[in-house]
Amino acid sequence: MTPSFNIVVAIDNQNGIGKGGILPWHLPADMLHFKTLTSYKENQAKQNMVIMGRKTWDSLPPYARPLKNRQNLILSRKLTQHPDAIVMHNLADSLQWAHDHLDTIETVYIIGGGQIFIDALQSPHCHKLFVTHIEQDLECDTFFPPFEHDFHQIYRSETLTENNLNFTFCTYERR
Ligand SMILES: NC(=O)c1ccc[n+]([C@@H]2O[C@H](COP(=O)([O-])OP(=O)(O)OC[C@H]3O[C@@H](n4cnc5c(N)ncnc54)[C@H](OP(=O)(O)O)[C@@H]3O)[C@@H](O)[C@H]2O)c1
Repeated sequence: MTPSFNIVVAIDNQNGIGKGGILPWHLPADMLHFKTLTSYKENQAKQNMVIMGRKTWDSLPPYARPLKNRQNLILSRKLTQHPDAIVMHNLADSLQWAHDHLDTIETVYIIGGGQIFIDALQSPHCHKLFVTHIEQDLECDTFFPPFEHDFHQIYRSETLTENNLNFTFCTYERR
């Protein structure tokens, strides 16, 4: 059996998620939201798992990785191992690993990037999307796939503003 998982993503108004290998915005409130969401667990004896593509791992500043208090998993076809994270070669094996460690893993979050989101969104085990909507076109080169057909919104925060960008935190659930 494969455990369900959630996706966490920040998108601009063209579904853009990144540019030149990094995030084309600086939103401390969104970073805090990401950290709080992916770190929160009910059972203090467990950790959540964050699954990311190798390029997203590379995009994290060295001081920030591995993401603290979470089990980090890198998806890569060419890496075989990493001292600071689990390495897997496909999403199915990653989810199986999480399932085999349910005694220590509480919730699985897929955190990007674009290549990984394509596979993840197609999975019937993808339960919720935590989407930060940034209300501007930031001319990204990496995108999040269309999702509104399969997911419906169950929560929308008030609009926040930082660095001249308006954004909202939304939650979507599979229809
Ligand atoms: N806005 C957001 O919420 C958000 C979140 C995360 C990332 N980002 C941005 O997204 C961009 C990075 O995304 P990206 O699409 O370029 O790269 P990515 O998805 O982070 O990583 C791509 C790499 O993952 C591995 N990979 C891809 N598909 C795989 C599969 N099916 N099985 C095993 N491994 C697989 C490959 O690694 P190898 O080459 O090692 O084989 C591939 O090169 C950056 O700009 C980053 O800042 C944005």
